[in-house]
Amino acid sequence: MSGSSLEFHVKPGGCLKGVLRVPGDKSVSHRSIMFGSLAEGTTEVTGFLEGEDCLATLNAFRAMGVTIEGPSNGRVVINGVGMHGLKAPSAPIYLGNSGTSMRLLSGLFSGQSFDVELTGDASLSTRPMKRVTEPLEKMGAEVVTTESGTPPLKIKGGKKLCGISYDMPMASAQVKSCLLLAGLYAEGQTCVTEPAPTRDHTERMLRGFGYPVTTEGNKICLTGGFSLKATTIDVPADISSATFFMVGAAIAEGSDVMLDHVGINPTRIGVINILREMGAHIEILNEREIGGEPVADIHVKASKLHGIRIPEEQVPLAIDEFPAIFVAAACAEGETVLTGAEELRVKESDRIQVMADGLQILGVDAKPTPDGIVIQGGKLGSGTVDSHGDHRIAMSFAMAALRAQGDILIRDCANVNTSFPGFVDLARSAGLTISQEG
Ligand code: S3P
Repeated sequence: MSGSSLEFHVKPGGCLKGVLRVPGDKSVSHRSIMFGSLAEGTTEVTGFLEGEDCLATLNAFRAMGVTIEGPSNGRVVINGVGMHGLKAPSAPIYLGNSGTSMRLLSGLFSGQSFDVELTGDASLSTRPMKRVTEPLEKMGAEVVTTESGTPPLKIKGGKKLCGISYDMPMASAQVKSCLLLAGLYAEGQTCVTEPAPTRDHTERMLRGFGYPVTTEGNKICLTGGFSLKATTIDVPADISSATFFMVGAAIAEGSDVMLDHVGINPTRIGVINILREMGAHIEILNEREIGGEPVADIHVKASKLHGIRIPEEQVPLAIDEFPAIFVAAACAEGETVLTGAEELRVKESDRIQVMADGLQILGVDAKPTPDGIVIQGGKLGSGTVDSHGDHRIAMSFAMAALRAQGDILIRDCANVNTSFPGFVDLARSAGLTISQEG
């Protein structure tokens, strides 16, 4: 199905209710395939996200000779080939919409003995890659982009990598992870210093596979040459997917939802901090630790939200959640101001512009700024908005309908399957009047 042909039709009003389990964490699922493939022994993964992005990573490793069973009901069994067991793929590797696959694999493949070419869809083919290729070159890698620094990436094999100490110019877990993965194959120590904390799933999972990684403040270091030992991984539900239901429940009067088994890694909970500051009723229950990641059940009830100035230190901790947070801001009383979030302009779409355009179509006063947005809460009307093929924008506008005065039609929604297969059915079961066509 072509991406632009799938539309969501959402009727206004209603509320969200029930006990819901959203699909597995995308970041953790990607990394489980990468490390399981490079480990010695058999890694069993449960709760794996069977979305297109993670399947792109899975297929990349199959193309390099790794035997992977599944996924079947979220279960994947990976027969690891060891750090030096990958084989040259016979064709370029297509990664679809997945920036995480492209950025992390560029680091990992820089350390292999063979050449690899990585390609992506129209959106991924516009995304900046110099942020990874420049530091990789400092390590001795050779990675060619287009003249404008975008994919495809042509990675030369057989290069000798040397560890570097790198001060990241932007808070990006993808850049950090890329360099740490190259560092596995580098001589000596690779250190990455981040300007602000970003998601630390790579560091946690490497340790889970027995690989030594140190974290001191914002500096993460590892030394090349150790090996990974197979393990079992239980992937928690993705807080980024849970976000749509948290926002939906917070804005729609009468809502009461319990989101089960959600990953609440401290580097991912910006959305909870921000929504609570806006007045949302969110309880974190049954906190536990599963496979090195904190997990909890999240209870959300409708409440009256008010606008806030979003603290900049929360931005990297909520980086994927802003489309939904903007919908909450549009339903809040007063003004919400976001700054320090220019990274949103280089996600699957320009999330500042695309959200501002859609909110304006719905009658909301939303003004984009170079590094954020200013939203005046008010009434949401109705209309046709374009997600620009961005999964998180499509799902955010679906939730906006809970407070809209008329129907919302959302264009270009097929990419919801990159991160949240089954979204429409789950949203409908919770109370959203949503259908899809195309
Ligand atoms: C991700 C990191 C984030 C996030 C993306 C997944 C990861 O990107 O937006 O969806 O798994 O490392 P940046 O690190 O570039 O902000």
